[in-house]
Amino acid sequence: MFDRHRRLRESKNIRDLVKETVLNAQDFIYPIFAVEGENIKEEIESLPGVYHYSVDRLHEVVEEMNQCKIRGVLVFGIPDYKDEVGSSAFDENGIVQRAVKKIKELSPYLWVITDVCMCQYTSHGHCGIIKENKVDNDVTLEYIAKIAVSHAKAGADMIAPSDMMDGRILAIRKALDLNGYDHISIMSYSAKYSSAFYGPFREAANSAPQFGDRKTYQMDPANIREAMREIESDISEGADIVMVKPALSYLDVIRWSRDNFNKPVAAYSVSGEYSMIKAGAKLGFINEKAIAMEILLSIKRAGADIIITYYALDAAKWLKED
Ligand code: PBG
Repeated sequence: MFDRHRRLRESKNIRDLVKETVLNAQDFIYPIFAVEGENIKEEIESLPGVYHYSVDRLHEVVEEMNQCKIRGVLVFGIPDYKDEVGSSAFDENGIVQRAVKKIKELSPYLWVITDVCMCQYTSHGHCGIIKENKVDNDVTLEYIAKIAVSHAKAGADMIAPSDMMDGRILAIRKALDLNGYDHISIMSYSAKYSSAFYGPFREAANSAPQFGDRKTYQMDPANIREAMREIESDISEGADIVMVKPALSYLDVIRWSRDNFNKPVAAYSVSGEYSMIKAGAKLGFINEKAIAMEILLSIKRAGADIIITYYALDAAKWLKED
């Protein structure tokens, strides 16, 4: 006697009936890039199919998201002005603040999440304040909290800190609560690895560090137990959703997070994951749609409740086609 596993693969109908993981458009969060200026919709060279939008043209991408029934958007800002302390990041009239206001006006029900970090805003490109050539953890916390409050004030529904300073969730939670934003949630980039997969994003956001690297604050790709410690800290400090980033080569981290914690787990399929598929497809080596959907499915199967992906719009359209 042997098992006839193939019986349940006989036709599409039975395969669909026994399917364990199903992707939906509502699983996705779409990252967008807002830039200063007017009348700009410019394709990002390192991220084909993804655009820089000036605030006055954000309605185009908001409409697309609504049509695709994407529920969440992650807003990144690219400022014109950078300095040592990233002051454009907490400027009430800064690029993210204006973008958030605009998106909320256009579509009050779209869930607007803001990336809280400093690297796009600092002249040195690091995710914090530099003291004696090092990123100073505790001084940075004050700035990160200030940025988070300014995003909440602009109308953000959820704050997503990606700086990887210790204690940032507590600092942000306290600052939000003190300023009357106890209803604003935090999605923490908890297990954020120091990864070469961020390359295309840094080009898109002009945020590469001008000296050194991010290894003193982002995690070593070799470690998974450390990721559990990071997540534990973030939950104890008040994170509502925890995130693993990147996704594709960290599926084990997603699975461990799902199995060890009861908070929703988000996975960020980052720029390099997207650009590799785009490049491979352009060369004709792979089938873009099939590969992208298989990867998204794998991320969900690994345990992600939410997937942040540059494929959100395409994937939502592809799901409708099937
Ligand atoms: C900011 C930030 C980065 C990404 C998200 N937020 C870049 C970095 O940490 O260097 C990467 C996103 C992507 O690659 O798609 N700290």
